[in-house]
Amino acid sequence: MYLTNDEERLLNGESGAALAQAMRLLVCLGDLGGAKRLVPIKRSQIAGISYKTAGDPTLELVESLVQEKATVRTRASLNPAGMDLNRWKDMKIPKAFAEKQLRICEAYERLGAMPSCTCTPYLSGNKPRFGETVGFSESSAIAFVNSVLGARTNRHGGLDALSAALVGKVPLMGYLLDENRVGALRVRVVFKPKSEADYSALGYFIGKCVKTDEVPVIQGIDRASVDELKLLGAASAASGSVALFHVIGRTPEVSSKPMKDEVSRLRSEIQVGQGEILSVYEEFGAEGEPDLVTVGCPHCSIREVAVVADLLSGRAVKKKTKFWVFASLRVAKDAERLGYTDRIRSAGGDVFCHTCMVVAPIEDLGFRCVYTNSAKAAFYIPRMTQGKCVAKLLSLRNCIKACTTS
Ligand code: F3S
Repeated sequence: MYLTNDEERLLNGESGAALAQAMRLLVCLGDLGGAKRLVPIKRSQIAGISYKTAGDPTLELVESLVQEKATVRTRASLNPAGMDLNRWKDMKIPKAFAEKQLRICEAYERLGAMPSCTCTPYLSGNKPRFGETVGFSESSAIAFVNSVLGARTNRHGGLDALSAALVGKVPLMGYLLDENRVGALRVRVVFKPKSEADYSALGYFIGKCVKTDEVPVIQGIDRASVDELKLLGAASAASGSVALFHVIGRTPEVSSKPMKDEVSRLRSEIQVGQGEILSVYEEFGAEGEPDLVTVGCPHCSIREVAVVADLLSGRAVKKKTKFWVFASLRVAKDAERLGYTDRIRSAGGDVFCHTCMVVAPIEDLGFRCVYTNSAKAAFYIPRMTQGKCVAKLLSLRNCIKACTTS
């Protein structure tokens, strides 16, 4: 990969060991991906923040970067941590976990990252523009910014997104290039999704059908809302690492003339009907009464929190069950201001920020059976709890019915 003189100097350690290490990682990725050069970025999203998933190695790495006085060169937001940074005691997070988690977040903040701790940075002050090149990790955010916003990012992991943030550049390859953003598989949706969970199940099913790096072009859901696309993308990224999808009549790039021509030539096609969607609900059909019912994977928008408050109206969460909504701090503040949080709490639920049901240590909080409206969460909960927790996928409406009395 070609490097400018300045980049060579960074690589040779003239600006410190931290930047040299970050450059080495980017050059290695670029060489593997066939990149010819690096390109500048102004935004990043850094995943791998939760102490549950990142552990002591990440804590040591980030604190060592702070000691070396490294700082990010982009607007860098953080993915969810393992707990609500302010209300971790209300979640009953063990103190030892909380102390380490707070140290990780403080260290990232000292590197200059925004302690946003959300997987929806585009709802919290880090929203890429159409066509903008960025360096994002977090699979759901990658799918959203590529597909719904029409920005461009590769599928970065936490460490390479951090390196990209420190250097302010990413290798020019993969989904940054026009030729890799063209659709490859037509998906005809031949049923009418009735709930946000149906969109999530659809995304999950599509993810299972695509081959590596294949871009699905979805037909038949041109009325999907942004929130529904958010759920669809997250689930497709979970089951099939989908980083980019197009929805005919809905997402921005597929309407362009060259793309339309390419799409009209697509030969491979699948159909998704009610039967396929039912198979997803069956896959995530854990038996048993829930002890945790939770929504906000990806983190809820303010519209979704409002719907939760409305559906809880006149109902009370059962004593033995927790009902938790996860959202970014910004959305949670809006929800408080608009009275939604009070309504959710007075029904017996709660709203937490900075974390989620997958990256929080829910198995250590005593939960065993989780109901959720997100196929991504249903997919990861058993995996991230070493099988201690099971999950069931239901619509938001049915989630609320399952854990409340009227
Ligand atoms: Fe976000 Fe956690 Fe789901 S990071 S996409 S809420 S698994």
